[in-house]
Amino acid sequence: MCGIVGYVGDRRAAPLLLERLRRLEYRGYDSAGICTIAEGGFHAVRRKGRIREIACAESLPGTVGIAHTRWATHGAPCEKNAHPHLCGKFALVHNGIVENDGALRASLLRQGAELKSQTDSELIVQMLDREYDGDPMQTLVRVLRRVEGSYALGVLCLDCPGVLFAARRKSPLLVGVGEGECLLASDLPALASEGMQAYVLEDGELAALRADGAEFYGADGKRIQKKPHCTVPREEIPSKGRYPHYMCKEMAEIPLAIRQSLCDLRQDHTFNDVCEVLCQTDYVEIVACGTAYHAGLAAKYAFERLAGIRTDVYLAGEYRDGLPDCTGGECLTIALSQSGETADTIAAASLAKQRGKTLLCITNAPYSTLSSMGDRALVTRAGREIAVAATKSYQAQLAVLYALSLGAARARGRNVDKEYAALERLPDDCRILLSRLGRIGGWAERFRGARSVYFIGKGADHAAAVEGSLKLKELSYIPSEGYAAGELKHGTLSLVDQRTPVVAILTQRQLAARLMNAVSEVASRGARVFLVTSFPEFCARREVISSVVLPETSPLFTPALSVIPLQALAYETALALGNDPDKPRNLAKSVTVE
Ligand code: AGP
Repeated sequence: MCGIVGYVGDRRAAPLLLERLRRLEYRGYDSAGICTIAEGGFHAVRRKGRIREIACAESLPGTVGIAHTRWATHGAPCEKNAHPHLCGKFALVHNGIVENDGALRASLLRQGAELKSQTDSELIVQMLDREYDGDPMQTLVRVLRRVEGSYALGVLCLDCPGVLFAARRKSPLLVGVGEGECLLASDLPALASEGMQAYVLEDGELAALRADGAEFYGADGKRIQKKPHCTVPREEIPSKGRYPHYMCKEMAEIPLAIRQSLCDLRQDHTFNDVCEVLCQTDYVEIVACGTAYHAGLAAKYAFERLAGIRTDVYLAGEYRDGLPDCTGGECLTIALSQSGETADTIAAASLAKQRGKTLLCITNAPYSTLSSMGDRALVTRAGREIAVAATKSYQAQLAVLYALSLGAARARGRNVDKEYAALERLPDDCRILLSRLGRIGGWAERFRGARSVYFIGKGADHAAAVEGSLKLKELSYIPSEGYAAGELKHGTLSLVDQRTPVVAILTQRQLAARLMNAVSEVASRGARVFLVTSFPEFCARREVISSVVLPETSPLFTPALSVIPLQALAYETALALGNDPDKPRNLAKSVTVE
């Protein structure tokens, strides 16, 4: 996904656009650019790389402008593919994907268009300039009827220097109306300022922003009235506080994220409603991507063991492409997403609805696309997560999913008092564990030169292993795999030697012997073993180089704890390698494209 900011008002646009764009840098940072209107012309700066590369744009004249920070989809990260794209009287920034780009490109080339980039976004601005009839808004409406796919757009037209045009389909876009100025942004943090009213553009809607306010239009180009969604809270302005990176700040917030998520559920009537639904449910399916998918894998054990509900977890990107529907009976589909804007998860949720499933959406973003799709919605209270690598949002998702499994168990007459008590203790358990991670820096020194790393576990520990592996890959760029411990000997063991450290996770007492067999197998081939365990007695084993002991909790809830040392390992290894742990290469905080 990309970050979009626009401004129209009585202040110079460039400094404000730069400052607000920095708040969205987590959305993508391959390249960046700004364009303002002044003295009858466009003034633009575009660069490959981070927003700091366009700092020189601070001096651009004009009180109207658009800015963009990109996560490349069509066309490599470079200056000519950076936004804004200009053509004749129009300048444009875009977040989304034009799905019929081939046909549109061919049509423009037949008309003699000179395309300057490899992007799909440039096609829109080329069409605007070619079809311009003197009315920018109506031209935009007409052109967008021919565009298939997703877009959040900010558009400038030289004939209307005091107006910022906007349009939205699938990719989120917000309008902020303040005193004597209006803002456009792809996410709330960029709007945060005193007393600004935020309006959420719905799919197909457009807007014309001026210094004195905003006008809204439907897809047919006719005026519509909209009510503000909220007054933008000041706390939306991201800050690292006393921490060197957002990731370590957000890890420190894990206990609070769990506590707030659990506390909110107690007052949320939807939670009780979903527990009643689960009482009648034969089957739960969870659809998600990345870390959210791994949270689903961990929660599966709780739903099945505590509530006795068969639960399957699907990669949303696979589910959406028509995996056969074998559920039958009453099925609750849970779409799980931190951002609530992940295109694959939105598509999977949409398919579940088409199949007549009851859809529950769990996100960390109450105004997100996914939050508005479900028959029911629950919000995790992790607070805004800026670092690309998900940490506190993972534990917050688990807290909500564990609470649902307990609520469903109780609704089915099962005694889960012990597990309830364990869940209530989880925030403190995390806080204690966070204070015990001093040796992880030493682990990182041993991992930084690894040829590859294997994370192994059985049962719920396997769910933690795959999440730990994703964290390390994301931040260190070291190849890694999370593996069901007993599976290594069926092939992958051939890759294990002294250059492939192994992290073993052991929290399931009944699986300890077989997990330790796998530990012996890898150690006897030269691998150094690092153990994350609930059982101190295994730390003294001769195969174990170093270990972290977890506070005691329900064996079904251990992934919320065992992943914490793995999050820290990824963070420390990134630092040891000189990587930016908040903005790993090639990635963005939410993947709003397919
Ligand atoms: C996890 O660290 C990554 N940032 C990524 O895998 C992420 O979990 C995935 O893209 C899903 O994002 P979502 O939770 O916002 O849907």
